[in-house]
Amino acid sequence: MKRILVIGSAGQIGSELTLELRKIWGNSNVVASDVCQNPSARLQESGPYETLNILDRQRMGEIVSKYQIDGIVNLAAILSATGEKNPMKAWDVNMNGLINVLECARENNMKQVLTPSSIAAFGPGTPLYNTPQETVLRPSTMYGITKVAGELLGDYYVKKYGLDVRGLRYPGIISHETLPGGGTTDYAVAIYYDAVTKGHYTCFVKEETMLPMMYMPDCLKATIDLMQADFSKLNHHSDFNVAAMSFTVTEQAESIRKFIPGFTCSYEPDHRQAIADSWPRSIDDSAAREEWGWKPSFDLDTMTKDMIDKLTAKHKAGLI
Ligand code: NAD
Ligand code: SER
Repeated sequence: MKRILVIGSAGQIGSELTLELRKIWGNSNVVASDVCQNPSARLQESGPYETLNILDRQRMGEIVSKYQIDGIVNLAAILSATGEKNPMKAWDVNMNGLINVLECARENNMKQVLTPSSIAAFGPGTPLYNTPQETVLRPSTMYGITKVAGELLGDYYVKKYGLDVRGLRYPGIISHETLPGGGTTDYAVAIYYDAVTKGHYTCFVKEETMLPMMYMPDCLKATIDLMQADFSKLNHHSDFNVAAMSFTVTEQAESIRKFIPGFTCSYEPDHRQAIADSWPRSIDDSAAREEWGWKPSFDLDTMTKDMIDKLTAKHKAGLI
């Protein structure tokens, strides 16, 4: 791939992944885009930025021609909690947006499309612990339904058209650069912000809730490693399980207390509890390890220390 278009680049993952891709491919060869009109200065100043609604197929084609794009990273999505408030919008953006991307890539003979899936592809009936690569996929959220359909579509384009489509089932992603965009795992990020700024967090899921999570540096590494993997060595394409760590909210609060001893956490579970309960506790990612050498670097305590260091610096600078 010579020139990549990142769609949904202003979000939690895109705001960091785009900058990492620019380090590897060169600033001018990674075009950032988003429906958002006011992305961060770093995103706009480090390389090209175009406003793009993923549902606007014509404008997508214009941008692809203008920059001679030969690969797309599709990060535009409506996440689980927001998607339950507006299921039709989630379907529209996640499915019709993805079809636009795949068709645009097919028509322009692109070299690669990367489009992430999620642990939300799983649901009731999926084994809760060490969830296998191949298993029951019957999600209970519209977001999850679009992720399963997206995996199937990606694999369909690989088989039917020979298009190189890749995707990973990200766990909840934890980061300090850009806030998450309306998911169920957002509590695992918010807890650090409130620990640093208030010393207390009121959590919207119960203390014993356990979900698979990953720190952003590992998310960036997993994504780029998969993008750079040898296509001929991949047996899977759009649905790789990837894991890093799993913990309960109680365990996360204990980890925070190692660095902020007075930290307290209370619990007021809401509608997002049912979504969290429908997802696995831990993930078997042996296919990703075998097919493209996946290995995470961060565990709970090393992530907690780094999050608190980074957020404390932001707090002192008056940024949060
Ligand atoms: P996010 O909500 O933070 O960012 C999504 C971006 O898409 C936003 O900048 C938004 O403005 C943009 N967007 C929304 N509608 C759009 C449209 N119509 N056209 C163009 N852009 C539009 O999401 P994220 O966390 O960065 O997620 C990126 C991808 O990773 C998604 O596919 C998501 O499902 C997946 N994922 C994320 C997580 C996580 O914990 N962050 C976990 C699993 C999977
Ligand atoms: N973090 C995402 C969500 O909670 C998982 O895909 O929606």
